[in-house]
Amino acid sequence: MALVKVQGLLLLLLTAVLLLSISPTGSEVVDSVKDCPEFFLQQTPPNIPGVLENGNIQDQNRYKVICQTLSDQRTFVTVYDTENKIPVFSASRYTISVGKRPKNPRWLIEPQLEDTRANKNMTKAGSKTYNHQAGDIDYKSQSHFDRGHLLPSSYGLDQKATFTLTNVVPQIKSFNQGSWNNMEQCVKCVMDKFCYNNNNNTEAFVVIGAEPGNTLLNNKVNIPSKMWTAFCCYSNSKQRWLAGAHWDENEDKRNTYLQTKTLVELSTDLGKQFDLFHGTRCPLHTTVTEFYSQLNNSCHCPPPISTTSVPSTSTSNPPTNTFTPASTTSSSLSTASVPVSTTSGPSSTTPAPLSTASVPVSTTSGPSSTTPAP
Ligand SMILES: *[C@@H]1O[C@H](CO)[C@@H](O)[C@H](O)[C@H]1NC(C)=O
Ligand SMILES: *[C@@H]1O[C@H](CO)[C@@H](O)[C@H](O)[C@H]1NC(C)=O
Ligand SMILES: *[C@@H]1O[C@H](CO)[C@@H](O)[C@H](O)[C@H]1NC(C)=O
Repeated sequence: MALVKVQGLLLLLLTAVLLLSISPTGSEVVDSVKDCPEFFLQQTPPNIPGVLENGNIQDQNRYKVICQTLSDQRTFVTVYDTENKIPVFSASRYTISVGKRPKNPRWLIEPQLEDTRANKNMTKAGSKTYNHQAGDIDYKSQSHFDRGHLLPSSYGLDQKATFTLTNVVPQIKSFNQGSWNNMEQCVKCVMDKFCYNNNNNTEAFVVIGAEPGNTLLNNKVNIPSKMWTAFCCYSNSKQRWLAGAHWDENEDKRNTYLQTKTLVELSTDLGKQFDLFHGTRCPLHTTVTEFYSQLNNSCHCPPPISTTSVPSTSTSNPPTNTFTPASTTSSSLSTASVPVSTTSGPSSTTPAPLSTASVPVSTTSGPSSTTPAP
């Protein structure tokens, strides 16, 4: 009798423990980028040497994957460096053109970087200092640096959610408000005008990052030496994949524009192992500068350079992603590899049908009447 009772109790306890451990509303600081896949093209994260290789975080204590969540909604993903107290990168799926930047947005932090059991929503930074991330206070009392967004608020599914300090770096004001800002607008215009998937919905993928530098803000927050950004999308109207990249040193500067470069040029600059759209059809050797003339002046795209960089060497350019450095170990994320046609252009083949697959969100958000951004 007694034994049966004890056994029953044990079973009950066990069940309770099991239920607790698989509770779906767990953390938003997740163990792996695979737990937050919807913000990567073909659900495949970038390769960032030393940080994120073949989908695996290299130093789990230092680099944390934040599935950025506000009001229970996941809106983008960040890999955060808790030592440097700046993000390595933020990535997102761009779908709709949102309205104006929120007025007086509140700066937020990620509570789960401090305590894994904390609230999964971002919370107000207040005037506290934090052990594992920058606080608002670290950016105050100085005039040289902005809280420079990686994922811009204008690309945000929920703009307020981009105002988390885990998505910003100390960025030189003139850089943030000058050439970097113009670039953000230009890329947004390109995405709004050309990035339509096969369902005719706006869809593009962005990855934006910072290279740590050698100096600190407030003795605590790394001041990056460089910032970079890349985007990729399928264009239904152009019947091809589009991509582009931009970067510059985080320095005081007055130049108005960043030059638009190819993905391969960015990888070459950052280090060959950088592969931001790993295993996809994103073109490595072409950009979108040829379309800038079709965009509104308010897009602030760079003017054409006189020495027109030859648009796509239309010679039989074999599969787009040959560049990947032998992908070292056979990438375990082979799900990504869309069979690349052996024929030259991606144009003839039907574009990868990933649009619907990778995108559980789109059904809810609907086709959206995409009013172009002001
Ligand atoms: C997150 O925010 C939403 C909306 O404010 C709220 O309903 C929810 O309870 C919050 N989650 C937690 C764990 O507090
Ligand atoms: C997609 O949208 C464009 C303009 O928004 C329109 O011209 C085109 O006909 C649409 N294509 C389909 C297949 O609905
Ligand atoms: C450019 O964009 C602005 C602001 O959205 C708009 O007022 C203007 O009409 C546009 N101009 C052209 C030529 O489309």
